[in-house]
Amino acid sequence: MKIVIAYSGGLDTSVAISYLREKYNAEVIAYTSNIGQKIESPDILEERAIKAGAKKFYYEDLREKFVNEYIIPALKAGAIYQDKYPLATALSRPLIAESVIKIAKKEKADAVSHGCTGKGNDQIRFELTFKYLAPEIKIIAPLREWEFKSREEEIEYARKKGIPISVSKEKPYSIDENLWGISIECGVLEDPWQEPPEDAFQITNSPEKAPEKGEYIEIGFEKGIFVSLNGKRMDQIKIIEKVAEIGAKHGIGRIDMIEDRVIGIKSREVYEAPAAVILHTAHSELEKLVFSRDLYEFKKLVSIKYSQIIYFGQWFSHLRICLDKFIEETQKYVTGTVKLKLYKGNCTVVGRESPYSLYKEKLATYSHGDIFDHKASTGFIEIFGLPSKLEGERSKGE
Ligand code: ARG
Repeated sequence: MKIVIAYSGGLDTSVAISYLREKYNAEVIAYTSNIGQKIESPDILEERAIKAGAKKFYYEDLREKFVNEYIIPALKAGAIYQDKYPLATALSRPLIAESVIKIAKKEKADAVSHGCTGKGNDQIRFELTFKYLAPEIKIIAPLREWEFKSREEEIEYARKKGIPISVSKEKPYSIDENLWGISIECGVLEDPWQEPPEDAFQITNSPEKAPEKGEYIEIGFEKGIFVSLNGKRMDQIKIIEKVAEIGAKHGIGRIDMIEDRVIGIKSREVYEAPAAVILHTAHSELEKLVFSRDLYEFKKLVSIKYSQIIYFGQWFSHLRICLDKFIEETQKYVTGTVKLKLYKGNCTVVGRESPYSLYKEKLATYSHGDIFDHKASTGFIEIFGLPSKLEGERSKGE
């Protein structure tokens, strides 16, 4: 039996390689990708995977694909789960799963595997993608099968089997990181009353420690895609990295929320996503300038649905593809620049402009140059107010 596993290099997936080899008498192929997380060199990862028992190791830099095929569509969609979570982890799972399937097909593997637990969302995201792209391939989830009751037992097993595990002191959090943000779970964070301790945060300054002086940035968009920072054109990876760096310095993008997992459990989640928060804020502001009221409000409904699709692991679905067609059309006029002020944890829009702006100063103004026909409002209110008048008459004396 041949199995391809999405391998992170951490304890769970290292032990999983060894487990799969023994339990299924399998030839295990490990697959790791760079999606913008802190990552060891492919050589070290390969050595570790082989020592854990893998027969072969694949490595790929997926950052560009991640940005173009996942992050940008999610940003255009305004996809933010339950008003707060920009979906960094959730977006990465179908991407990784898609690549695992490619390798599995190339290697003519019988099964694919991952290192997710049976309580979380990530198992669902991996497996729905596997099912969509290769319904014939078997899925094995070692963490749902094996008998380890604790991390200590797992470490003990790893020692016995000679599986290399990083010797650094056990981190108190479970951390998942990529270009779009960081998810932080476990430890004291599981008590929703406890404020996240400073050491939970990996990249952002606390607002208290952020510079006393705020900073202005300008983000340029073309058809919904961010194309420049402070007037300089850059590729999208660079913009995300730069915006994240500036935002992190100013303490932006810390998110602390109660979230509903797919399986129904409520969990307390902490995220750091300075780039996602800033870019969503800017993008949505530009839409406000160029969208009609109806389009703005209707697209909000689409955003909610789209965020659920991503969160629930249904990226590969006809509905998502259909919504992308709608969303693409909405981005036709989302071109322009947004100016933001970053200051001690706040990201405030202070300016916006677009060649397609529907804002007309001559119509909006309360001073001279006004071209709006004030008298026309009389007739408008007469008709628009008719239902109010009818209801008012009926309610007299109530
Ligand atoms: N709650 C988030 C989500 O469902 C984060 C999951 C984080 N995963 C992890 N391995 N720490 O997308």
